[in-house]
Amino acid sequence: MQSRVKKIDKIERIEIPPEERVVKFEFAEPPRSGDDVVVMDNLAKEWQLPDGTLKPVFSGVSGIVRRGSKIALVGVNGAGKSTLLKILAGQTEPTSGSFTLGANVAAGYFSQHAMELLDPKKTIFETVQDVMPLANIGVIRNLLGAFLFSGDTVDKRIENLSGGEKSRVVLATLLARPVNLLVLDEPTNHLDIRSREILLDALKDFAGTVLLVSHDRHFLRSLVDRVFEIDHGEMRVYEGNYEYYLSKVNGEA
Ligand SMILES: Nc1ncnc2c1ncn2[C@@H]1O[C@H](COP(=O)(O)OP(=O)(O)OP(=O)(O)O)[C@@H](O)[C@H]1O
Ligand SMILES: [Mg+2]
Repeated sequence: MQSRVKKIDKIERIEIPPEERVVKFEFAEPPRSGDDVVVMDNLAKEWQLPDGTLKPVFSGVSGIVRRGSKIALVGVNGAGKSTLLKILAGQTEPTSGSFTLGANVAAGYFSQHAMELLDPKKTIFETVQDVMPLANIGVIRNLLGAFLFSGDTVDKRIENLSGGEKSRVVLATLLARPVNLLVLDEPTNHLDIRSREILLDALKDFAGTVLLVSHDRHFLRSLVDRVFEIDHGEMRVYEGNYEYYLSKVNGEA
C-alpha cells in the first residue's frame, strides 16, 4: 500500500517536458501552380531485367492531376505504383507515352531511397539548414520541433538515426521548401503513430497537390479525394474519396 501511494505521488508530479509540446507545422507559402498539375498521356513502362528480357509493368496510363487534389495511388504489391511515381519524379524514363507538369509546378518527391541519400556525417540541423540556407535558427528549430526533434537531438548525426528518425528528417527537408506538388511513396512506413498524425495534419493543411502511395488506411481515409488504381497493367481513376473507391471495388467483387 505504501509503495502504491508513492507511485501515484510520482505520477502526479510528472510534467510534460518542453520538447514534448506539439509544435504546429507551417508550410512555406508555395507559388500557385497551373490548374493541370500533371497530365499523363498514354504512359507505359517496361523494366529491363539483368538477363535482357523486358518486364512490362503498365501501359496506356492517362490521367490528369488537378491543382489542390489529394490522390491515392493504390494497387497490389508489384503493380507499379513506385514505378509510376518514379517516372513523374523524373527518376526513370517511360518506355512510351509522355507526361507534362503544369506551369509553376514545384515538386517534392519522397521515397524510401531518399533516406539513403542523406549525408551520414551531417547532423539533423545541418541537413535541414542545407535546404533552407536563408532561414534563421529559430525557423529551422521550429520546423524540426514539428517533426519531434528538439534540444540536443538536432545535433545528432544522420548515421546514428533510426529509420523512423531518418524518414522524419527527409520529410522535414521536403516540407521546408516551398513546394506545391508532393509525390510521396509510402512516407509513413517507418513512422510511429504520433509522427504519422503530424504528417497527416500537415498534409491536410497543405494547399498544394498530393499524389500518395500508402498502405495506411487511416491516412487514405482522412486525406484523399480521388483514387488512381493500377490493376493488371492498367490505371483506373475513381472520382471520389477512399470510401468511394472501396465501395466500388467491393461492389464489383
Ligand atoms: N529498377 C527496376 N528494375 C527492374 N524491375 C523493376 C525495377 N523496379 C521495379 N521493378 C519491377 O516492376 C514491377 C513494379 O514494381 P513497383 O516497385 O513499381 O511496384 P509497387 O506497386 O510500388 O509495389 P509495392 O507495393 O511492393 O511497393 C515489379 O515487378 C518490380 O519487380
Ligand atoms: Mg512501391
